[in-house]
Amino acid sequence: MNILVTGAAGFLGRRLIEALLQRGTLTDRQGTERPISRIVGFDVVPLSGIDDGRVQAVCGDIADPQVLEGLIDTRTDSIFHLAAVVSSQAEQDFELGMRINFSATQALLERVRALGTCPRWVMTSSVAVFGGRLPAQVEDGQVWAPQSSYGTQKAMNDLLLADYSRRGFVDGRSLRMPTIVVRPGKPNRAASSFASGIIREPLNGQDSVCPVPLDTRLWLMSPMQAINNLILGHELPGARLNEGRVINLPGLSITVAEMIDALRRTAGDEVAGRIRLESDPAIERIVASWPGSFTARYAKSLGFTADHDFADVIGQFIAEYPPQTD
Ligand SMILES: NC(=O)c1ccc[n+]([C@@H]2O[C@H](COP(=O)([O-])OP(=O)(O)OC[C@H]3O[C@@H](n4cnc5c(N)ncnc54)[C@H](O)[C@@H]3O)[C@@H](O)[C@H]2O)c1
Repeated sequence: MNILVTGAAGFLGRRLIEALLQRGTLTDRQGTERPISRIVGFDVVPLSGIDDGRVQAVCGDIADPQVLEGLIDTRTDSIFHLAAVVSSQAEQDFELGMRINFSATQALLERVRALGTCPRWVMTSSVAVFGGRLPAQVEDGQVWAPQSSYGTQKAMNDLLLADYSRRGFVDGRSLRMPTIVVRPGKPNRAASSFASGIIREPLNGQDSVCPVPLDTRLWLMSPMQAINNLILGHELPGARLNEGRVINLPGLSITVAEMIDALRRTAGDEVAGRIRLESDPAIERIVASWPGSFTARYAKSLGFTADHDFADVIGQFIAEYPPQTD
């Protein structure tokens, strides 16, 4: 199998490549399980630290048509399209968001259409496609009404992928991901960045700011579930996707107060006491527009899975990134 991963140096891209290497096989579009012979890991920042002869790191801007041309050819069996600029960044810089999140996706799909090989295509959509008046629990048929440019760009990608799949240009699957926590490293420019920050920073002995009210309800997924679900999304035969190519994934519905409580139970009062509430109206507005719970009935019927206990999610993070408190 020849695989392209865009956004390869990012949080999910790197983990996905590591998981694919460990797994060793994927199913091709004819339904045959085949060894993974090559993974092109593409990103605008260098992909380093993966030492495996099957991985070819390619650095470039996905919005550059010449770069796109060289990324895939008739041998490309599967594409995991993860490259994007995150929500707050896309809100602050409209042109950048449109160019990277939408136009580049369209150009990549056009490249695939021109090749005529109909590869499998998995991409990551977002709960940010929803907004406005929402029920307490969002059903699969909920009308999309994004309240941000990022959400609009993801929604446009979903529509495009559904139509390219209907026409047989690509065998696409767009997975609407919950917010993935706990993310390692530094805060990023996603409006949801605090959801990891309020766990990660206190565990590492640092103060953290929570910019939204404690009763804010979030829809979350651990990195491990996210990667398992991305791979499952690839492996499902097209014939099973009879309710569409855009799938709301299951997740864990939890308030910020409950997250902090789980941190307190796991790591103690002193650690949980490092979180300071400080309202940020811009973040609050974006986050409040996202649904906090979904039925995800279609996804569950296809075998996608969710976390059940946030303390376990914190435990996974601690096991992988032991606290660095000096
Ligand atoms: N992490 C989450 O909570 C979450 C939730 C829903 C959806 N998603 C989506 O999942 C995907 C991956 O998310 P992530 O958390 O790994 O994000 P990330 O920011 O860690 O990774 C995205 C990668 O895309 C790359 N990129 C940005 N601009 C590029 C360009 N011009 N050319 C090539 N590469 C470029 C970045 O360098 C980065 O490595 C994104 O599409 C994101 O929108 C993530």
